[in-house]
Amino acid sequence: MKSVFLSRFFILLPWILIVIIMIDIDSKRAVRSPAAGRHSRAPQAVRAGGSNHSALPIIYAITPTYTRPVQKAELTRLAHAFRQVPRFHWIVVEDSTVRTELVARFLAGCRVPFTHLHVFTHRRFKRVGMPRATEQRNAALAWLRHHRSRRDSGVVFFADDDNTYSLELFEEMRSTQGVSVWPVGFVGGRAYERPLVSGGKVVGWYTGWRPDRPFATDMAGFAVNLQVILANPRAQFKRGGSQPGMQESDFLKQITKVSELEPKANNCTRVLVWHTRTEKPHLANEPKHRKDSVVIEV
Ligand SMILES: *[C@@H]1O[C@H](CO)[C@@H](O)[C@H](O)[C@H]1NC(C)=O
Ligand SMILES: *[C@@H]1O[C@H](CO)[C@@H](O)[C@H](O)[C@H]1NC(C)=O
Repeated sequence: MKSVFLSRFFILLPWILIVIIMIDIDSKRAVRSPAAGRHSRAPQAVRAGGSNHSALPIIYAITPTYTRPVQKAELTRLAHAFRQVPRFHWIVVEDSTVRTELVARFLAGCRVPFTHLHVFTHRRFKRVGMPRATEQRNAALAWLRHHRSRRDSGVVFFADDDNTYSLELFEEMRSTQGVSVWPVGFVGGRAYERPLVSGGKVVGWYTGWRPDRPFATDMAGFAVNLQVILANPRAQFKRGGSQPGMQESDFLKQITKVSELEPKANNCTRVLVWHTRTEKPHLANEPKHRKDSVVIEV
């Protein structure tokens, strides 16, 4: 009698365990999945790399963006890279009076931890020849200064949405103590620009445009330790008095010296980010035809 009971018990045991595990997985999923709203956490599965990542500084990537035909395609390309980077926080700042539905929906499903901000640049500041995305980058810096403190370790990077990023770039910038620099492909009318390095120090700039700039680098060519951003609360991107192409230099002047720059990417000999820019799509036939009967987001 007792042995019959025991054998039934052992036959049922594995099934009971499986049911318990299934219920556990399901309840975890239910807690994690709704990622709507202004902030999100990526599912833990994405982060599971086997190693202990919680000691790594967080990379805060600041991406100004604006409504245009290729916006979602550009953000999709970025998200595919960013979701593979451990300890990553994406700060997306729209040039808009509101958070647009397209970007809000996109971020909710992008599986990258994010903060969604917006600030509108008035038309009078959008003329050709004026620096772009100044307000958006400054809004992201203000968010960091408001929401992060001396206890937080992080690295801040300006990740425009018209570039292509190698995953290796993020591992390079992760160790930034002050301000780090590296080459950028397809900028300044050249195949690449880079800081010139001698004896492990930056000694000049290999560039296609105004090598006399104190920091002749592109927006995608440097990262800043979060504590440097917090320790220089007034450091900002300037619109007044700053010509296009001078924004990076004007900003870096406020927080560092050339002699203190940390060269990354093998002493600045490897290109790990490219200013690829997506070609403007040809949409001339759009107005010539009747609109589709359903509304489809592109
Ligand atoms: C991961 O590292 C952090 C900081 O070093 C530590 O506090 C934490 O316990 C570690 N977690 C695991 C699972 O090893
Ligand atoms: C960079 O250059 C310095 C000085 O020549 C050297 O000590 C260091 O190992 C180099 N770093 C890399 C990653 O090649």
